[in-house]
Amino acid sequence: MQTLADAFIDIAGPWNYSDSKNGLTNNYKRTLRNLDDLREENINGHKHSPTDSPLAIKAATREPDPFQKIKSSSPLICEGIAEIQDELVEILQSGQLSNFGKYSRLLECKLQEKLGVRHVFTVPNATTGLQIVLSSLAPRSEVLVPSFTFPATVHAIVHANLIPRLVDVDPETFNISLPSLRKQITSRTAAILAVNVFGNPCHIAELEALAEAKNIKLFFDSAAAIGTKYRGRCLGSHGDAEVFSLSATKVVNAGEGGFIATSNDLLAEQIACVRNYGFCLDRSDCLFVGCNGKLSEVHALFALKSLARMEANIRRRRAIAEIYKCRLQSIPGLSFQRETANGEMNYCNFAVRLKEVQFGTDSTNLSQYLAEHNIETKKYFLPVHKTRAFHNMCCEPLPGSEALAHHVLCLPMHPNLMDEQVERICEVMLNFHKSAGELPTRYFFGMRAKNDLSKSEPPDCAGSQNLAEDVENILNQQAM
Ligand SMILES: Cc1ncc(COP(=O)(O)O)c(C=O)c1O
Repeated sequence: MQTLADAFIDIAGPWNYSDSKNGLTNNYKRTLRNLDDLREENINGHKHSPTDSPLAIKAATREPDPFQKIKSSSPLICEGIAEIQDELVEILQSGQLSNFGKYSRLLECKLQEKLGVRHVFTVPNATTGLQIVLSSLAPRSEVLVPSFTFPATVHAIVHANLIPRLVDVDPETFNISLPSLRKQITSRTAAILAVNVFGNPCHIAELEALAEAKNIKLFFDSAAAIGTKYRGRCLGSHGDAEVFSLSATKVVNAGEGGFIATSNDLLAEQIACVRNYGFCLDRSDCLFVGCNGKLSEVHALFALKSLARMEANIRRRRAIAEIYKCRLQSIPGLSFQRETANGEMNYCNFAVRLKEVQFGTDSTNLSQYLAEHNIETKKYFLPVHKTRAFHNMCCEPLPGSEALAHHVLCLPMHPNLMDEQVERICEVMLNFHKSAGELPTRYFFGMRAKNDLSKSEPPDCAGSQNLAEDVENILNQQAM
């Protein structure tokens, strides 16, 4: 049986590579030989080094394991069980495992400080956090939300008894499109729920000005954006509230968890009440339809340990992103998510966009090829209007989201990745592109991978032009 200590050692996954079939072994050897040069190499003016993150130091000195898979993400909490065991014992002995205990409150204070925001409320996950914040809006009003997002963003709107109206994204930054937003604001619009996609900040100043001019609320789904900066400041205090995730794939993680950040005092009072079953402060009465929005003490402790490494973690991710960009930029038809002006991404994800004709194939086939080379990738996001759950909902044409559907692939990105692993991923991708003529045709344009459900297009939008009715129908179908 795996011990807790083993589990922590596993966190720093070792280097893997074994492929003599495709003649890549020489590349591997060359990569290893060049390792010292690589470490010193100045890529795009940024000196990257495996010593950027504490765990990477360990990983970089370990012998490569040819059988280990390169994972797309890897949670970074702390370096070993010794670092956390005293607090774990303290939590167990205290008898307070949840209910806004010491570690949950400590985490809230640390986050307030780090993000420069007046109120932070820990919650069990970002989906619940979004629902809590959205429940401050009048029932059945409309919320403008990008289609290119994780489905939970839209689920939270529906579960808060509101109507999602899907808007488009900018296919370069992947974030909500201001022209599309401006076109869709009506008297029924109560709020904008913008998403900082993959940790890339939106055009926040413009969104704030628009929301103020139209007298509507502005919320941010910042699930992936902890530590991301806009105009030099960490996200957290923008709009009326921002919601962050602490799930295992995020830059700061607790295994599961999340938090709401707001500098709006009135909203904060309501959030405090809704996340605690709707109780007022002394629990003598229930004021709102509330929910269980508590984060457990163990999760809060994990998040605190992970938060202490946030800056080093992001430095390492940004260094990895530079290697990817430097090595992959020459591939025709492959581009990168553009970092927003005045923003500094945390690189929670590293997304590439493929133009099928120039690249030669699509993201599904590239993902499959990489998987065959023991490299895990993620095909985020299928735009919400393309999902089976929501395809029946009426929406305006969304060309930006269409341009990204099936064309985005998130490459492995986490601070335990060694430079050699990043080099290896790039080599496989370059090889894939170069060998277009020689590889089996199943990989290439026109030959869709079989049995890929995500590829079978849902029927065209059959919406009734009445959004409220469409949402009702979607929920009714689910109930059957
Ligand atoms: C944009 C976005 N919103 C919401 C969520 C949901 O977060 P959680 O799993 O903490 O509920 C995610 C999860 O990855 C996400 O990427």
